[in-house]
Amino acid sequence: MIDPLFWKDRKVLITGHTGFKGGWLSHWLKNLGAHVNGYALPPNAGHSFYTQTSVSHSLLSNTFSDIRHLDAFKKAMQLAEPSIVIHLAAQPLVIDSYLDPISTYSTNVMGVVNMFEAVRSCSSVKAVLNVTTDKCYENKEQLVGYQENDPMGGHDPYSSSKGCSELVSASYRKSFFNDSGVAIASARAGNVIGGGDWAKNRIIPDAMNAFANNEKLLIRNPNSIRPWQHVLEPLFGYLMLCQQLINNPDTFSGAWNFGPSLEDAQPVSVLADIISESWGDNAEWKYDNGEHPHEANYLKLNCSKAKNILKWEPIWTLDQALVETVKWYKAFYNNENMSKFTLEQIEKYISYESAL
Ligand SMILES: NC(=O)c1ccc[n+]([C@@H]2O[C@H](COP(=O)([O-])OP(=O)(O)OC[C@H]3O[C@@H](n4cnc5c(N)ncnc54)[C@H](O)[C@@H]3O)[C@@H](O)[C@H]2O)c1
Repeated sequence: MIDPLFWKDRKVLITGHTGFKGGWLSHWLKNLGAHVNGYALPPNAGHSFYTQTSVSHSLLSNTFSDIRHLDAFKKAMQLAEPSIVIHLAAQPLVIDSYLDPISTYSTNVMGVVNMFEAVRSCSSVKAVLNVTTDKCYENKEQLVGYQENDPMGGHDPYSSSKGCSELVSASYRKSFFNDSGVAIASARAGNVIGGGDWAKNRIIPDAMNAFANNEKLLIRNPNSIRPWQHVLEPLFGYLMLCQQLINNPDTFSGAWNFGPSLEDAQPVSVLADIISESWGDNAEWKYDNGEHPHEANYLKLNCSKAKNILKWEPIWTLDQALVETVKWYKAFYNNENMSKFTLEQIEKYISYESAL
């Protein structure tokens, strides 16, 4: 359960607020009455959730800077005086990590080191959540879901950088934050879908761009199984976890998986079928049989820890998540007020959660 009283007037710093997940989180936190401070690179010049939904209106302070600039990062954190830091800023794309491994590692590894150094310089911080990914695990293409104590790994530079980010978190927790009064956790979520994602080479933005232009969606790996979930599902988990990090730091520090129900870990082709049908207008997809860099085929998360201890569980089925996602893009292409539409989707999600 999310406790509105907990969030009312609470100071939070989000890194990566100009991105897809950070933007949704900023709206949700503002809606809960929190004072949200953002630190990230400026939003993309083309399509951007940040601009389309006026994320800046949800913020108390807004710093456009690089997480690799430690002095700027420390200054922004000290000015914001947050009690909670949620670290989302990263280079999050596998294909871009093959094209630019140096920038991927410097952002995803030294960025998290800088985040912890900034936290060490800021006495107001009581909880830190480092958002990594399900791809941080050493992928053995195993049928059973990965558990939090499975080894870190990663074939491509992105996955490996997030495994490194996890190791940095664990080291800082043990080396610098033991008995410090600052709770440190990391969150590993699966493939997130939702309105307003415009990243290259992700299936939803690729599909929405193709369908809006009356083109067929090209799919690289139709048989790859991924744990799909709506963006609000892991964000719900992050908010619940942050509450507990403040209230029960000893029990809740550490690593947490936030994935969909096992039946919602589905091949890319199933997802493509559902979104084509939801879009209508005879939308279709086809296999792109060009050369593609290596991507993991099989990835499932075991989320028993979050379900049993945090009492978190996914709320929307894959079908619901996809229908809501397609609705968002349709509304956008119909020139609706996307800030209002986004807040209504958050309220709708919360109403499902309250009904459980
Ligand atoms: N979207 C997904 O499916 C998914 C799945 C698992 C984990 N994640 C993780 O969630 C986080 C957010 O992902 P997203 O999908 O919102 O990505 P996004 O690309 O939409 O947003 C990334 C954010 O990071 C910021 N950023 C990037 N490099 C930076 C730098 N050097 N300095 C400061 N800010 C920088 C960007 O400005 C942006 O605000 C990432 O850590 C990502 O690895 C995403």
